[in-house]
Amino acid sequence: MSAMKVLYAASEAAPFIATGGLGEVAGSLPKTLAEKYKNKIDIRVILPLYQGIYDRNNFEFIGKTSVPLAWRQQYCGVFKKRLDNITYYFIDNEYYFNRSDCYGHFDDGERFAFFSKSILHILNMIDFMPDIIHANDWQTSLVPIYLKTKYSNSKGYSSIKTIITIHNIEYQGIYDLTIAEDIFDLHGKEKSIIEYNGSINLLKGALETSDIISTVSESYSNEILDDYYAHGLALIIKRNSLKLRGILNGIDTDFYNPENDNALFENYSKDNLKNKTINKLDLQSLAGLPQDENIPVVGIISRLVKHKGFDLIINDIEEVLKEKVQFIILGKGDHGYELYFKSLQNRYHEKVAARIDFNSDLARKIYAGSDFLLMPSISEPCGIAQMIASRYGTVPIVRETGGLKDSIHDCSLGSGNGFTFYEQKPKVLANTIKRALKVYNNKEDWEKLVETVMSIDFSWNKSAEKYYDMFQSLLNQGEK
Ligand code: GLC
Repeated sequence: MSAMKVLYAASEAAPFIATGGLGEVAGSLPKTLAEKYKNKIDIRVILPLYQGIYDRNNFEFIGKTSVPLAWRQQYCGVFKKRLDNITYYFIDNEYYFNRSDCYGHFDDGERFAFFSKSILHILNMIDFMPDIIHANDWQTSLVPIYLKTKYSNSKGYSSIKTIITIHNIEYQGIYDLTIAEDIFDLHGKEKSIIEYNGSINLLKGALETSDIISTVSESYSNEILDDYYAHGLALIIKRNSLKLRGILNGIDTDFYNPENDNALFENYSKDNLKNKTINKLDLQSLAGLPQDENIPVVGIISRLVKHKGFDLIINDIEEVLKEKVQFIILGKGDHGYELYFKSLQNRYHEKVAARIDFNSDLARKIYAGSDFLLMPSISEPCGIAQMIASRYGTVPIVRETGGLKDSIHDCSLGSGNGFTFYEQKPKVLANTIKRALKVYNNKEDWEKLVETVMSIDFSWNKSAEKYYDMFQSLLNQGEK
């Protein structure tokens, strides 16, 4: 049997570029699949060649072509790089991608329409006709849509299967309906695929046209059947629910490894937790907080946006701050939350340190140096920070939603690996933190808990198997 061919299309992937969870997943899932199923799967990744792409001067130029996008003909260069046994392709167009940020431009819709169209356009040129194209989030949602509308009669394309993975249903690629023809080149019946609630909705189009819809945890796949979580798309999810799957993400446990992570003050393992304490003391000093190994440190590493649950913190944190505790916050986002944490730091400078930043090096120092990681998310498709924290022996305190619910279980239930709560009430969160602090103060219970937390396997291993089975079942469908 020849290896199945999968093209993994994403708008970001570590180590080349990562602004969030999607970049981490796109950087680690294909890598694990390639390692684990060496002769069974040929998985390649395709990305835009942004200005900030790491190592871009060392890529191999494969060729150039011109990609049609409505009335436009746009230059499309293709570069290639082999890394970790994976072939990465990069789509080059300076006008669209030679900018400082990946997202947030007035013409993002057009930029990712170009990227999606290019992916389909260059398959012959790169000599890789995939069995499956795996698209991710709204930025590559036009891949399954264009495949169905523009390529259905092209040789070799009709048997390609598609998957759309939702990393966060809140971001859907919504645009004014008036640009459907001019930018997206979708007319009449085709236009209705991307039309939803009086606007263009690219994710909706992908949900309708893909063969499988997957999301990044089982709980989230159930939650998005409900309007509360689906941000307007519950109806579409429901009517496509037979195609719906949920597979929990893993993390790159080689990269996130306290035994050799060079961002840490000292490396450590389960058997040498003394060095974790050194990380804590150095972190306290770096954060400008009193150095004391007996004061529990709660870390928060997150985008500072509403759905991460910060309103729950704001309303009762001062109650928790009466206790012996320190908080270290790292993140950027909504101005209101940034100001709030800054002012909290000013009022409680002995107990709170806030860094308004996105910084992987500092993040890893906080994962290692904290005792707890707090994630009170209102919704969380998967969440990666709670798994990284666990790997560093830092105990998660999470709200029971999406992937948080699937990965962290309350330790009051016996074999748990963290502290969880459900009700969206500041008091409930405050009580959960206080409950966690109590366990911290009981040395024996605490050591057992840290040991349990560190022994959980959050690598991609199990989930990669589920992806492989999903690919396989999709291909079997085709053979019927
Ligand atoms: C998004 C989600 C997050 C998930 C990540 C990777 O960032 O918000 O929960 O872990 O994608 O799938």
